[in-house]
Amino acid sequence: MSVKFNSSYAEDFLRGNDLKGLEAQVAAAHRAVNGKSGLGSDFLGWVSLPADYDREEFSRIKAAAAKIRSDSDILIVIGIGGSYLGARAAIEFLKGPYYNSLRDGAPEIYFAGNSISGAYLSDIMELCRGKRVSVNIISKSGTTTEPAVAFRVLRRYLEEQYGEKGAAERIYCTTDKSKGTLKKLADEKGYECFVVPDDVGGRYSVLTAVGLLPIAAAGADIDRLMQGAAKAMEIYNEPDMYKNGCYIYAALRNALYRKGKSVELLVSYEPRFTMMAEWFKQLFGESEGKDGKGLFPASVTFSTDLHSMGQFIQDGSRIMFETVVAFGESDKDITIKAETDDGDGLNFLAGRTMSYVNSKAFEGTVLAHTDGGVPNFVITVDRPDEENLGELIYFFEKACAVSGYLLGVNPFDQPGVESYKKNMFALLGKPGYEERKAELEARLK
Ligand code: PA5
Repeated sequence: MSVKFNSSYAEDFLRGNDLKGLEAQVAAAHRAVNGKSGLGSDFLGWVSLPADYDREEFSRIKAAAAKIRSDSDILIVIGIGGSYLGARAAIEFLKGPYYNSLRDGAPEIYFAGNSISGAYLSDIMELCRGKRVSVNIISKSGTTTEPAVAFRVLRRYLEEQYGEKGAAERIYCTTDKSKGTLKKLADEKGYECFVVPDDVGGRYSVLTAVGLLPIAAAGADIDRLMQGAAKAMEIYNEPDMYKNGCYIYAALRNALYRKGKSVELLVSYEPRFTMMAEWFKQLFGESEGKDGKGLFPASVTFSTDLHSMGQFIQDGSRIMFETVVAFGESDKDITIKAETDDGDGLNFLAGRTMSYVNSKAFEGTVLAHTDGGVPNFVITVDRPDEENLGELIYFFEKACAVSGYLLGVNPFDQPGVESYKKNMFALLGKPGYEERKAELEARLK
């Protein structure tokens, strides 16, 4: 097992009965998830996905990624929420935040359609001038406004550059297998299509074509990613929660929530993990934040944010606990050298690696924050590679589902997301929203 969960820095904040009291609920959640019988059971396809995915499509994903790598300088991935965060998070985690400058034979990858900013999209289009561009449009529903607007703009750009037929050879569409505006358009225009399975919701879809095509185009090994997830599927299927770190994590975060800790801060000491934390925030925030309940998922990158948020965490309102994701090994490192004059007084670090210094920052912080009244969980990952990423993704997905059931919510719907959309459509004058438009405009100040 490469992903290990450690709750010992939270022990002072918990009592023996906290876990015991949740045994029956965890057992019920285990049955509901694995038996695909709980709330939102139509969206439990991700549970068996690592073993049970479409092999033919997987080969087509690899072939499309190889084609993109051979005929494109830039790949623009259009999508929002679950159709965006997983791919970006995985690429930054595996290839680093400077992937676009350091890439080795792979295309630069930019993400569009994740906001409605004209300035942001204009910048991406400027980056495309004179380069060979391909586009992967991802939308399960095929109707989401943000990606649809970006795709309209970028499709026109590609058609101007390559003609309609040439553009069609550079557009890859990841959407529903049969329905939605995007699927209809893709069929009309002859775009290559990949499927978001019916039973996998957006925020659980990183291990489908949604994440796999961009991740493979970046040059990562998606076979190993799926192998890691398949390993996790076995490990975290253990019904005895005391032998299942994923279930213990789900149970203990609920125990702390019930004691008034309403914020979970996901912490990492590696900047490459920053987008993974964004993915985590969507996974848990959209799954649990409903019916007036839920932990608020937040994130920080240390030691960077110790110089901005550290004061609050150490000393501010005692509303939070931390979950630290730490890496056992680093794939790249720098050793600090001795200097004869020792002008900066750092010779005491000579011969030490930056990873070693970082590990001491972690140990010092964990002790300081627990002293300050912040319980800490630690998830250790051996190395930041594809296999361990697959395991970590599955760990969080399963923990989220079990935790949602412990909280008593449906972890697979997102009814609250519709409110802003209806208002935006009304205010933009979309046909059918006339009454709402008048009512909203009267309230605008
Ligand atoms: O997790 C979810 O379901 C959402 O975040 C969706 O992924 C997001 O709203 C985008 O939806 P779609 O893929 O239908 O464009």
